[in-house]
Order: sequence, then structure tokens, then C-alpha cells
Amino acid sequence: MKQAPPLRAALIGAGHISAQHAPAWVATPDATLVAVCDVDRARAENRRDQLASLGHADVAIYTDVDDLLANTNLDCVDLATRPDTHRGLIERASEAGVHVLCQKPLAASVAEASAMVETCRRASVRFMVNEMWRFLPWFRDLGRLLSEGAIGPAHYLRVVGPHRPLRRARPVDDGQPYFADMPRLIVYEMYIHWIDCARFLLGEIESVYARAGRINPSIVGEDWAVLVLGHAGGGTSMIESSWATPDDAPTRRREGDILLEGADGSLHFDPATLELRLARPGGVEVVARYPSLDRAFQSAFDGCIGHFAAAVRSGAAFESPAEDNVRTLAATLAAYESLERRAVVAVGGLGRPPSGERRLIRRMLVPLSRWEREKDERPPV
Ligand SMILES: NC(=O)c1ccc[n+]([C@@H]2O[C@H](COP(=O)([O-])OP(=O)(O)OC[C@H]3O[C@@H](n4cnc5c(N)ncnc54)[C@H](O)[C@@H]3O)[C@@H](O)[C@H]2O)c1
Repeated sequence: MKQAPPLRAALIGAGHISAQHAPAWVATPDATLVAVCDVDRARAENRRDQLASLGHADVAIYTDVDDLLANTNLDCVDLATRPDTHRGLIERASEAGVHVLCQKPLAASVAEASAMVETCRRASVRFMVNEMWRFLPWFRDLGRLLSEGAIGPAHYLRVVGPHRPLRRARPVDDGQPYFADMPRLIVYEMYIHWIDCARFLLGEIESVYARAGRINPSIVGEDWAVLVLGHAGGGTSMIESSWATPDDAPTRRREGDILLEGADGSLHFDPATLELRLARPGGVEVVARYPSLDRAFQSAFDGCIGHFAAAVRSGAAFESPAEDNVRTLAATLAAYESLERRAVVAVGGLGRPPSGERRLIRRMLVPLSRWEREKDERPPV
């Protein structure tokens, strides 16, 4: 069968993170980036200059999405804008019959994210969220080794994210100064990636327990958090990180320290050495070495955007379509409900968990107040 021609793609939003989208569009053989659109023309021009420096010329500039959609005969758009713009842009793209790749977090609520999925479904346009963390080489290797049985069935994932400071005066971050005004910060902006990776490795999340707080007086949202995720298969993930820690160079790295424990062994991604180590009763071996952090992150964008373009061009399924990513969002937002209610929260509304798991959740759903009351009565361990 004759292969469809490469897709005609446009990048919408030419801010901070789009600098990593642009090389990924140049790298994929399944699409040609024909336009960049940003309401801020100077930003769009910067991105065009970056593309030209990568040998990709002839990119049109737009400052208005309707103009872009009317004049470029597109197959797909890549939304690299912030969540409050997603719904409107997705509606415009789907009305134009154009497939959509969209940055995370998709929306501030599950209802809004589900409405976007429905809009695209009705318009018969393909829709995927650009959740590139699961395309990082160590998460790919963890997934592959786990499915090959290298550590037996896994019961525990521990992610220790970076402990680094945001500046305690504005701008609190040079790349993403808007962090300062986000009422939901580190979990919504950052942990959402690890929550998706936890789903990628240990499957569906059924319950979330969160502790979090704000230390930095120059921001409004939470800047540290600890999450415990209960997976439907019985596994548990623990995620912790902080953007409140006073400068501490050894733990600032953004990749995080990842431990995946199974019945027969464990896998440890060590961010200090960029090695993935497999520990089994017979000994410890290095099973992968990642040469450069920057290359790894760019390869994750290349992998995710390349996957989107290849699947749309060929008609193949996405590994994680937008409706799947809504489950990542639901678990992320459940963390805030857990904070409010000071309780373990069931990730609801997206299908009933299997009955064995319902029993497990019921056991976990002990309100914190009762847990705290009872803890004085428990014998010391
Ligand atoms: N995957 C990752 O590792 C990663 C990293 C950083 C940010 N992000 C996500 O990417 C998204 C964007 O973040 P950012 O830091 O690049 O934001 P940003 O504010 O730097 O860039 C967004 C750009 O979108 C433009 N824009 C807004 N509305 C528009 C519209 N209607 N039409 C055209 N352009 C429009 C703005 O002018 C701005 O230039 C956020 O949702 C963020 O969470 C992901």
C-alpha cells in the first residue's frame, strides 16, 4: 500500500518549552513543520530562527490561530501553550479537521479534559497529549525490563525528584516565571509527569494520598509534596520532590532518582552516574548508561512527537491517547482533593475498579483524622 505523504504540521505557542518541540519536528520523517504561530510575534520569529539554524527553512509565521488554520492546509497542530488556552485552541483545530498534539496538563479539571476528548472524537480528529517523560530512555528501559521479567512482578516504585529552590523573589524561575501565580504548582506542573510514568510502569492508579505545602513566600501554590499512589494491580508508588529546598547542588538534577522494586530484584536509575542498575540475588549489574542528560530529554521529545506523527500518518494507535492521559490528570487532581480532605482519595469517575481492588481501596480509605486518633492506641512497632 502506498504510504501517505508526510503531515503538514504547525507549532502553536513559541514560548519556553517549544524550544524542545522544534528539533523534534525537524527530526521526524513523518511530518514537515510548515508554520509557527504565537500571539507574540517576536517569540514566533525566535522559533523560526531556531528552526533555520537546524537547517529547516521556509516556516511561515502567524500570530492568529484562525489565520493559521485558514491559510496553511494543515494536517496537525502541536499546542505548546499553557492549559487555560487548550480548550479554545482544540475546538478551533477540530473544527478545521486538524489532528491535535497538546502539552500537559491538559486542563484544570477532568470534566474539561473529557470535553476536549469528546470534541475531538466528534470531529474525528486524532488527539494525544505530549507526555514525553514516559519516552525518557530510562523509563523506556524500565518498562522493557519489567515486561521481560527481569525483576519479577513489581510492587513498588519510588521517585525522588530534585530538591532545588525556586528564587524567593519574582521572577521565581527564569524559564517559567508564571510558576509564581499558579495556585496548584509542583504536583500539577511536575508530578503529573511522574504520575504518568507510574501508570506506565505499574498500571492504573486507584487511590492517592498527598502531603504538601508552600515554603516560598513569593509564590501562591505548593512547592513541596509527597504522594503515595495505590495501583489497581496492588503496587504502590511514592513520589517526593521539592522546589523549596535551599540550594543543594547534588540533588538539583531534574531527572530524579528512580527505584523499581520487584519480587525477584530491583532496578535503580541513579541520576548521579546516569546508570540503570539491575540488582538480583546474584549481584548488581549496570544494564544501561545514558551519555547526556540534555540528549536524553531531547530524545524524549523526539520520541513522543515522532510517535504522534508516525501514528497519525500511518493510522496506527497511540500508545497513550488523550483519553488515557485524562486518567493521569485525574490522579494528579486527586492529590489536591487528598490535601483538602486530609484523606486517601479514590481516583473516581473513570470506571469502576475490579472488586479485589475495591477491597484494597476501602482499607486505604481511612480518613487521616481517624488514623491520627487511633495511632496513639496502636502498639509501638
Ligand atoms: N514536557 C515538559 O517537560 C514541559 C516543560 C515545561 C513546560 N511544559 C508545559 O508546556 C506548556 C507551555 O509552557 P511554556 O513554559 O512553554 O509556556 P510559555 O508561557 O513560555 O509559552 C506559551 C506560549 O504560548 C503563547 N500563546 C498563548 N496563547 C496563544 C494563542 N491563543 N495562540 C498562539 N500562541 C499563544 C504565548 O504567547 C507563549 O509564547 C505548559 O502547559 C507547561 O506545563 C512542559
